[in-house]
Amino acid sequence: MRGLKERVALVTGAAGGIGRAICNRFVDEGVKLIAADVNDASLSEFAGELNSRGGDVLPLAFDITSFEEVVSAVAEAVAHFGKIDVLVNNAGWDIAKPFLDTEPELWDKIISINLRGPLNLHKAVLPHLIAAGGGKVINIASDAGRVGSSGESVYSACKGGLIAFSKTVARECARDNVRVNVVCPGPTDTALLRSFVGEGEYGQTIYDKLQKAIPLKRLGQPDDIPGMVAFFASSDADFITGQVISVSGGLTMHG
Ligand SMILES: NC(=O)c1ccc[n+]([C@@H]2O[C@H](COP(=O)([O-])OP(=O)(O)OC[C@H]3O[C@@H](n4cnc5c(N)ncnc54)[C@H](O)[C@@H]3O)[C@@H](O)[C@H]2O)c1
Repeated sequence: MRGLKERVALVTGAAGGIGRAICNRFVDEGVKLIAADVNDASLSEFAGELNSRGGDVLPLAFDITSFEEVVSAVAEAVAHFGKIDVLVNNAGWDIAKPFLDTEPELWDKIISINLRGPLNLHKAVLPHLIAAGGGKVINIASDAGRVGSSGESVYSACKGGLIAFSKTVARECARDNVRVNVVCPGPTDTALLRSFVGEGEYGQTIYDKLQKAIPLKRLGQPDDIPGMVAFFASSDADFITGQVISVSGGLTMHG
């Protein structure tokens, strides 16, 4: 893809299913990487793998819900690579429960990871994109934020909020040549999805029903997502901002 080589990208949730796939793709494209995750052990091991196959990867373990940790990690990243060109807000978390069975404590956790976390990253990274003469933000939301998802009410609210926030920042920062776009995965086979559908026979039934509902007749795999992320990060997407695209096998279609 055009213009990716030598760019510097920060990817959160780098040690998870979709995060790993995005990092692998970026390394293949010659992107220098700040791989960020709260899971230090898994992150270090993964960054070691990427570096041993020729990547230029700085692993940074921090919690995206802490503004102080985010600011200090971003400063370390800029000191290391001299700049940031691309931010991918990919870290996310949820637990499946009907809304009326949830309590405010759980809402706070879901909101802090899925909405407050990306806000922290935008606040800390946007000034560096602007200082570099522009850049790209790709936010990983969810089809839950476009059409809802039973059992994921507060998560859906966060992802819908992230979509609206992205469009607003895309407007505000267009004059600074910062382009902000959103990728919405549909059901994608990762640890997060497995925790949602559950294990055993019941989980398999939900999995099978999801598969039947998807026009392309399969769930997403982590490797289905990075193509769209790499495209938005590349020079091929330089005239695209404030857009939202689903990568969901056709599960969600809007006129
Ligand atoms: N898997 C799906 O079906 C699906 C569907 C739609 C959207 N998404 C979105 O895709 C993104 C990636 O999800 P995934 O399926 O790869 O999940 P995953 O659980 O495999 O990975 C998520 C990663 O985020 C990290 N993380 C969680 N909380 C964090 C925090 N506070 N600070 C830093 N890192 C943190 C985790 O350690 C993990 O490595 C998420 O934003 C998720 O909401 C996933």
